[in-house]
Amino acid sequence: MLRTAVIKTPAIAGLLALGLAGPCVADDVNGKKIFQARCAICHGANLKSTGPLANKSNPPTPDLTTSAFRQRLNDYPGVIVSSVILRPNGDLIPRTLRENDVKMPPFAWSVQDFRDLNHYISGIISKQP
Ligand code: HEC
Repeated sequence: MLRTAVIKTPAIAGLLALGLAGPCVADDVNGKKIFQARCAICHGANLKSTGPLANKSNPPTPDLTTSAFRQRLNDYPGVIVSSVILRPNGDLIPRTLRENDVKMPPFAWSVQDFRDLNHYISGIISKQP
């Protein structure tokens, strides 16, 4: 049977498990909602680090619309999602929020949320002149 054959292919089974094999449908309304609630306070609505906490950390919040970041995203398309999941700078973000008395409610991320957020942010970046 086709289904059994597909699941036996480890790479495809892995993609199915991650929910990545379906049609690529991203919801920009959800992506925008998450961005505004959890990222804009530093990154700013325009991604140019214009949020009120943009300069409250060391390093400060980077402008994500520069050609340098566009190149980075091109070389490493997972950089947006991984910056949220892996937190390469340790507790920098939660600490900056805490030090500035900003309370962000915990959030149970779904795979779809990451996709939507990634799509929304990439969309703003790709619309830069
Ligand atoms: C408290 C402020 C703050 C918040 C909130 C915040 N960021 Fe950032 N962001 C930073 C700072 C500071 C850096 C640079 C240091 C670093 O990479 O950790 C950064 C870096 C990044 C980068 C570049 C990573 C790279 O490796 O080039 C991306 C992409 C990013 N943030 C996305 C997000 C997204 C998406 C959210 C919301 C889910 C978010 N950030 C929330 C402050 C913030």
